[in-house]
Amino acid sequence: MTVLRNIAQLATCPATNPQQDAGIIENAALAFANGEIAWVGPENQLPKRHSGEESFDCRQQLVIPGLIDCHTHLCFGGWRDDEFDLRLRGHRYEDIAAAGGGIRSTVSATRSATIQQLSRKALQALAGMLELGVTTIECKSGYGLEADSELKQLEVYRKLDAQQPVDLIRTFLGAHMVPDEFQNCRDDYVRLLCDTLIPMVSAQNLAEFCDVFVDENAFSIPEARQILTAAKRAGLGLKVHADQLSNGGGAQFAAEMGAISAEHLEHATESGIQAMADAGTVAVSLPLASLYLRVPYIAARDMLEAGMKVAVATDFNPGSAPSYHLPLAMTLACINQQMTPQEVLVGATTVAARAICAEQRIGSLLPGFTADITVIDSPSVNQWLYHFRANACSGVVKSGQWVKAFAPQTAPFLR
Ligand code: NIG
Ligand code: FE
Repeated sequence: MTVLRNIAQLATCPATNPQQDAGIIENAALAFANGEIAWVGPENQLPKRHSGEESFDCRQQLVIPGLIDCHTHLCFGGWRDDEFDLRLRGHRYEDIAAAGGGIRSTVSATRSATIQQLSRKALQALAGMLELGVTTIECKSGYGLEADSELKQLEVYRKLDAQQPVDLIRTFLGAHMVPDEFQNCRDDYVRLLCDTLIPMVSAQNLAEFCDVFVDENAFSIPEARQILTAAKRAGLGLKVHADQLSNGGGAQFAAEMGAISAEHLEHATESGIQAMADAGTVAVSLPLASLYLRVPYIAARDMLEAGMKVAVATDFNPGSAPSYHLPLAMTLACINQQMTPQEVLVGATTVAARAICAEQRIGSLLPGFTADITVIDSPSVNQWLYHFRANACSGVVKSGQWVKAFAPQTAPFLR
């Protein structure tokens, strides 16, 4: 048994609370054993039986569930800093893509990279995420767009899941765009996805979810319907990249298909929001993509008021969001999505867990949940997300083990 005590605020983030309520306990303590949370509450109620256990003094810091980044494109070859420069000179993301750049250029870099090169690069990002307090991520394929290269990305994820502490939940995104060699016969690519790749991914247990990018330059709704119908038949959970660059009815489509989540949604309409609210679809907001592409932020307030849950994630990828800094995305969600710090924290913990169908075991600090715990060098949720710093994380527990040693920050937060 290990006890964390002298916690200024413990955010328990119960899945059953409304999103604005992070279930905060002041002056708290927490006990964990055998990889699970055993007890949480005010420190003055800590049961006597825990008083002789190994304990850590949290020195009036904040303790939260290990953060969950529920939307990343972790594995990719190359970078696209040249496009960053082009966009700043006025070229549009869509035009760069139409001219052969964008996703297409990452596809060719990913196809030509070896599994070792891709693994080493993704491992470096995972180490950086863990330092920030992230303990679980969702990660998509989608830069292969052919059998071998899609499987190569999913294989990188399988390997890395076993090699380091951050848990990887895998999503097959073979429907990220139509690869060049199928431009004149796109139906054949949709057929390849539905009849070969999706059944293979599912049979070999290579992914838990299937995602599709619904967009003018990616897949139409009828195509996406075929793809997600095949995915559902194969037993995969469903996700949709919806209404990112324009409103194409992606939100209604995600609701109609019973997708667990719709992601991006920068251009979702009122009727799309209502359809998702009625279907219980989780909205996954990606504020770093809005920042980098200088497009509108998601209408999070309208979604919350309609009764939806809104997750906050990074979208880490080499094009629209070349950063895996989840706490930065969280501060941006406060400012630009007008979400309160508690709503945002809940969005990056239990709601993010819901977006990967894992809210029964991670994302909350309650007895019986996996002991994934992040210590933040700040006295409160408000103070943490308001006073943005490069890294405020001062310790991480994953499944009951310290994986980022609990240590004072080199420059501790001054009250
Ligand atoms: O989520 N929207 C489509 N896919 C990614 C961008 C991929 C890229 O630019 O490489 C996204 O933003
Ligand atoms: Fe994405």
